[in-house]
Amino acid sequence: MANGLQNWVLMVTAQTPTNIAVIKYWGKRDETLILPVNDSISVTLDPEHLCTTTTVAVSPSFENDRMWLNGKEISLSGGRFQNCLREIRCRANSVDDEDKGIHIKKEDWDRLHVHIASYNNFPTAAGLASSAAGFACLVFSLAKLMNLKEDQGALSAIARQGSGSACRSLYGGFVKWVMGNDDNGSDSIAVQLANEAHWDDLVIIIAVVSSQQKETSSTTGMRESVETSALLHHRAQEVVPKRILQMEEAIRTHDFPSFARLTCADSNQFHAVCLDTCPPIFYMNDTSHRIISYVEKWNRSAGTPQVAYTFDAGPNAVLIARNREVASLMLQRLLFYFPPPPATELTSYVLGDKSILKDAGLEMRKDVEALSPPPETKDNIPSQKYAGDVSYFICTRPGRGPVLLADESQALLHPETGLPK
Ligand code: DP6
Repeated sequence: MANGLQNWVLMVTAQTPTNIAVIKYWGKRDETLILPVNDSISVTLDPEHLCTTTTVAVSPSFENDRMWLNGKEISLSGGRFQNCLREIRCRANSVDDEDKGIHIKKEDWDRLHVHIASYNNFPTAAGLASSAAGFACLVFSLAKLMNLKEDQGALSAIARQGSGSACRSLYGGFVKWVMGNDDNGSDSIAVQLANEAHWDDLVIIIAVVSSQQKETSSTTGMRESVETSALLHHRAQEVVPKRILQMEEAIRTHDFPSFARLTCADSNQFHAVCLDTCPPIFYMNDTSHRIISYVEKWNRSAGTPQVAYTFDAGPNAVLIARNREVASLMLQRLLFYFPPPPATELTSYVLGDKSILKDAGLEMRKDVEALSPPPETKDNIPSQKYAGDVSYFICTRPGRGPVLLADESQALLHPETGLPK
């Protein structure tokens, strides 16, 4: 190993996107292997706006496996981390880095320890599927470091054991998680339906909804739903299989009305399953419900869906507009109902692709104040505004899958010590 030198550090840095399900995963048939009760489909979000960056390092001088998330050390003792680490280690191969004079034999990996540093470019606490991007990035970067020969599908099956939705973050664009049949989970993998260029008209605006409520975790919530909700079983057996076929067809043919109807219906059914759980789980709040009503009213008055909405295990709304023009109109509506609090600049209230503000003619606060009520609202009822109910918006689009970052300056670990920078 490394010519007898003990002070070398070998590192890999990768960036992995998050994803939003348009046909939801909710319920496991195997809790340890994380095998779902139905297929699901997601859209990968542009990593420029929402992603996890992870650096993994190996050195003979490391005494333990250690991990830091957003600069703070976290425990790796949990079963999910251990399962991912074990599955990757047992597939590791020899590594030869001639430039650095580092040679690692296949069997060395059993004794070597790794350091992992992960950073989300969005607030972890905002409830934006950080575990999906996080586990996908951990598996992708460790697989590169340990020179795994497995394809992306096999890596997705490892990421799945960290967090189910993570398997879909191994690809860009539109992704299906095939539930599989095998008891060992080998065929429960993600497959790419289409890449991010396939339907690049779509614009996604996320409303990060203010909430004090402590939410039930997805893991606990879905366990309780499997145990108590009859609707969950009906959904998994009768509803989702048909919707998966219809959604695949809608994506293939760029059929936005079908895409939107299916996305909204599936989000609503997932939240209906949560209500059907004993005790019931409430992920959406009044703000979420208001956003649904505004979109439904607009879609109805337009005669055909303009915008799709979907909500995961929390109150944040993910709104998918059919194109940029519609997204500008949507932002006008959203800022009319949810204007920024008095001291907040527009540019710190609308994050991600801020160029949407210019398209919407909203460059200054006074432009927001001048917005008139959306035409679909009834003239005789004065529209109420809800400043403060949305923390901020993020404008994004469908994006690419994981990439390696070759530039060592982007690494989160120090190249000599292997400790966080
Ligand atoms: C509502 O993947 O977070 O976002 O597998 O227990 O880690 P675990 O759950 P997780 O659940 C995600 C549920 C969802 C729907 C979805 O992403 O499909």
